[in-house]
Amino acid sequence: AADIPNDLTSVLVTEEQINEKLAELALRVEEDYSGKKLLLVGVLKGAVMVMADFARHLTRDIAMDWMAVSSYGSSTKSSGVVQIRKDLDTDLGGWHVLIVEDIIDSGLTLSWLLDNFASRGAESIEVLALLRKPEAAKVEIDCKYLGFDIPNEFVIGYGLDYAERYRNLRDVAILAPHVYA
Ligand code: PRP
Ligand code: MN
Ligand code: MG
Repeated sequence: AADIPNDLTSVLVTEEQINEKLAELALRVEEDYSGKKLLLVGVLKGAVMVMADFARHLTRDIAMDWMAVSSYGSSTKSSGVVQIRKDLDTDLGGWHVLIVEDIIDSGLTLSWLLDNFASRGAESIEVLALLRKPEAAKVEIDCKYLGFDIPNEFVIGYGLDYAERYRNLRDVAILAPHVYA
């Protein structure tokens, strides 16, 4: 990891800012889902860090499940073709579902997931995303719990990868163009 700083142009969202924001969102979620059975669905692999940290800001009991989908592969652009690599283990009947994502870029992944979940019998379905790129939207996603709107740059870290690398950075940073040029 010694070469990581050379691959970044700037830090966009710091570990501390992420932590503060997730704490705020957790307070809202606790209030909104009071007395309700809450299932967090993390979207592998990017959402691993958000899921782990957000869930630990909650003081109530929740269930967790994971969906593995991918639309980017090793490219920096979304193909728009979403593939299921791992489906949920949970029957959504009776659950209030909160989908947890690292980023809404074109919106195609979540648009597809929301359609896919719509017929599975959940009590409700909402979205929590740490990041969103408004300028990149191809479809509008109704995201009830949003961390930060960010510029249309290729970002990495805190779960976000470029060709599976950089997910372990603690901050969200902009990838230097020389890395993917
Ligand atoms: C990334 C990111 C989101 C999605 C957002 O996942 O984690 O899930 O793309 O892009 P979109 O709004 O344009 O659809 P990716 O497909 O790279 O898989 P990964 O989570 O395993 O990195
Ligand atoms: Mn993802
Ligand atoms: Mg990715």
